[in-house]
Amino acid sequence: MATQTIDSLGDIAGKRVLIRVDFNVPLKDGQVSDDSRINAALPTLNALIERGARLVLMSHLGRPKGQPNPEFTLAPVAAALAEKLCRPVAFAEDCIGPKAESAVAALKDGDVLLLENVRYHAGEEKNDPAFAAELAKLGDLYVNDAFGAAHRAHASTEGVAKLLSPAVSGYLIAKELTFLGDKTSNPDRPFVVILGGAKVSDKITVIDALLEKADTILIGGAMAYTFRLAQGGKVGDSLAEPDKAETALSALKKAKEKGVEFLLPEDNLVCNKLDFKAGTLGDTKVVEGDIEDGWEGVDIGPKTIERYRSVIGSARTVLWNGPMGIFEIADSSKGTFAVAEAVAESDCMSIIGGGDSVKAINKSGYSDKVSFMSTGGGASLEFLEGKELPGVVALDQV
Ligand code: 3PG
Repeated sequence: MATQTIDSLGDIAGKRVLIRVDFNVPLKDGQVSDDSRINAALPTLNALIERGARLVLMSHLGRPKGQPNPEFTLAPVAAALAEKLCRPVAFAEDCIGPKAESAVAALKDGDVLLLENVRYHAGEEKNDPAFAAELAKLGDLYVNDAFGAAHRAHASTEGVAKLLSPAVSGYLIAKELTFLGDKTSNPDRPFVVILGGAKVSDKITVIDALLEKADTILIGGAMAYTFRLAQGGKVGDSLAEPDKAETALSALKKAKEKGVEFLLPEDNLVCNKLDFKAGTLGDTKVVEGDIEDGWEGVDIGPKTIERYRSVIGSARTVLWNGPMGIFEIADSSKGTFAVAEAVAESDCMSIIGGGDSVKAINKSGYSDKVSFMSTGGGASLEFLEGKELPGVVALDQV
């Protein structure tokens, strides 16, 4: 499936383009503290401005549960966006109704307006047709570039796409689909997938889907302890899901059947007094094999790091999702940052599949050395699982 993009639109000068972006960005002291999602939307916005369209932007921010709540206002995002676009960005205090309609009516060609948080209205998450119709009044055509929200069938992502025509994707969605989709479906080989994170239950569908495509899968994070437990090993006090042992074993069986090399950590960094809030671990040591009671695994060990580095070094395509350990604490961040470094240094096509691995690569300082970093969290995972994204399916297809 390929969606039509803004390149397929004819003359849009003077047209009101209703654009769904994902400006669900972190705020600190009323300022945008991570602007990656704003930056990621700029190519689409600049292209539409150049073509003389009148841009009406809508987004959600946080989860205000269908009520106006100043904690979740998009006003600071309008200010940050104006700086990046080097032009004024008007802000409407509501996303529907008279305030929004008069702000749209005041737009001239090339002007930009950001509407207040669509989740201030309960109709957004309910995908209420009446609310979608109110939003649709504000545009002559629809563009969705909110990849991060494309797994939600909400009024601004799905409902409105059915009411306006054309309904096409922006460059960000197109790029996300290319990297997370095409490039992992027809990868240059060897194709190495690195999967980390806490729970097998969160990632099992992704593992299952990627076992169809990958040559090698490297496992890290607490998820690895569930695999170890399933194989009859001891994991001490490590975070593990004993009830997911069968699931883990069937993934291992499938890997064998498919001829996919499936690597688990051969050594781990363990600690005896993890305090996440304080950022302390107590005593630490590196353990090969079983982990004793009273100790818990918090990172992959040095042998595993070396092994994973060398596998990554010979890959032609790498997809990475999920940290190797508790990278938020310096002493248990080595594995995650070593993987970040190996991915950055390799000449391969490197795709960072969203969420914590993007945070880790940003923190490691290697973000400009990878081929692509997804802006999606849940959306990237669902897409990698092979699910259809409602916000994408609703768009015009090629
Ligand atoms: C995200 O941050 O993953 C997206 O913006 C979606 O947000 P949501 O999980 O609140 O729908």
